[in-house]
Amino acid sequence: MGERMVELNPVAERLEEDLTALSALHDPSSGGWTRTVFSEPYGHAREWVRSRMADAGLQVHSDAAGNVVGVLPGRDPAAPALMTGSHTDTVESGGRFDGIVGVLGSIEAVRLLRENDVRLERDLIVVDFLGEESNDFGLSCLGSRALAGELTPGHLERVDGEGVSLAERYSRFGIDPSEVLGAGSAWGPRRLHRYLELHIEQGPVLEERGTSVGVVTGIAGISRLVAGFVGRADHAGTAPMTTRQDALVAAARGVLAVRHVACGAPVHGVGTTSRLDSEPGSPNVVPGRVRMQAELRSVEPGWLSDAERRLSRQITEEAGELGVEVDLEWSTDNDVVPTHADVRQAITTTADGLGIDWEAIPSGATHDAAHLARLCPMGMIFVPSRAGRSHCPEEWTDTSAIATGVRLHAATLVALDRE
Ligand code: GLV
Ligand code: MN
Ligand code: MN
Repeated sequence: MGERMVELNPVAERLEEDLTALSALHDPSSGGWTRTVFSEPYGHAREWVRSRMADAGLQVHSDAAGNVVGVLPGRDPAAPALMTGSHTDTVESGGRFDGIVGVLGSIEAVRLLRENDVRLERDLIVVDFLGEESNDFGLSCLGSRALAGELTPGHLERVDGEGVSLAERYSRFGIDPSEVLGAGSAWGPRRLHRYLELHIEQGPVLEERGTSVGVVTGIAGISRLVAGFVGRADHAGTAPMTTRQDALVAAARGVLAVRHVACGAPVHGVGTTSRLDSEPGSPNVVPGRVRMQAELRSVEPGWLSDAERRLSRQITEEAGELGVEVDLEWSTDNDVVPTHADVRQAITTTADGLGIDWEAIPSGATHDAAHLARLCPMGMIFVPSRAGRSHCPEEWTDTSAIATGVRLHAATLVALDRE
């Protein structure tokens, strides 16, 4: 921080008001606090974010990737900019805090900078990234991925459950799909100085240990699996149990294999099967085909690639015993991404200066920050999640805990500006 520590104290009532107002903009026909990407409530929420950004003194525009961008001009327009932000979409039946804490916390930080006459050297760019949560296209972080140049023409051609392509979803939401892939060209590595993101932990560690904030060491890599099981449809009343080639039984073994491979990971490794689609799905027909969707995550790249290999082998062998053929399609949603030592150092030095207790913690969830790391040094601050619950309606963090995170976030932005 150079000459002196800047103390910026968030106004808890103002934060609370914003959190309540934004979380109220959800889909009433779904459970929890649903605001999925490309939905109508999501569109309304982003209009609301634009107006809140403008009220805070940010110059607001939408970029070619569909991100809502607010700029607080610094003294030196030529200096590489500081970027912060997060997302305002949710998973289906999700919670109130995942994503919006980082967007609203950054808007509050901007208000505090202006109210306290703290002028930054660099532009501060606050972004509400488009569609961070994994969607029907099996793709997370649409907006940040595009900025990092990691969105591909193949991604745009993917279709959702209704047979609509990602390109078409962009169009219907008012975003020109032909512009999206080039959206990153404005943000070559030299244009961005640092990226900092504030987020809820979404796990139990901080609360269990009674720590105020987490300084993220790295973001887990995600390997996604789509497995196609092809057996043989038969009469459920007459086909003998010994000769059946039941694709759903093979897939069920696959589900257990995902769990088996992930249990016992030495540091951090998890595995989830989220979906099975069985055909023909008639009560009196042995399932002939199944599509299974699963993922593995870890902050250990070595564990992840080894687990992929072991899982592929186990699924194939066990399906083979049932006479079921398997086609395994692996894709990487994101690689393991460590945070940058310089940004971690800025966060911890600032926390120590402010008397905020912290601990280093890995992130099992993915974040827009994982993609921004391609453009500049990146770091993240976590605030505790009650009982570690997330991606469910029970997700909760007290406003006072969020305010502590915002206090650290704002002061760290100032420290990063001065680096
Ligand atoms: C997003 O929250 C994810 O980790 O999938
Ligand atoms: Mn999130
Ligand atoms: Mn999420």
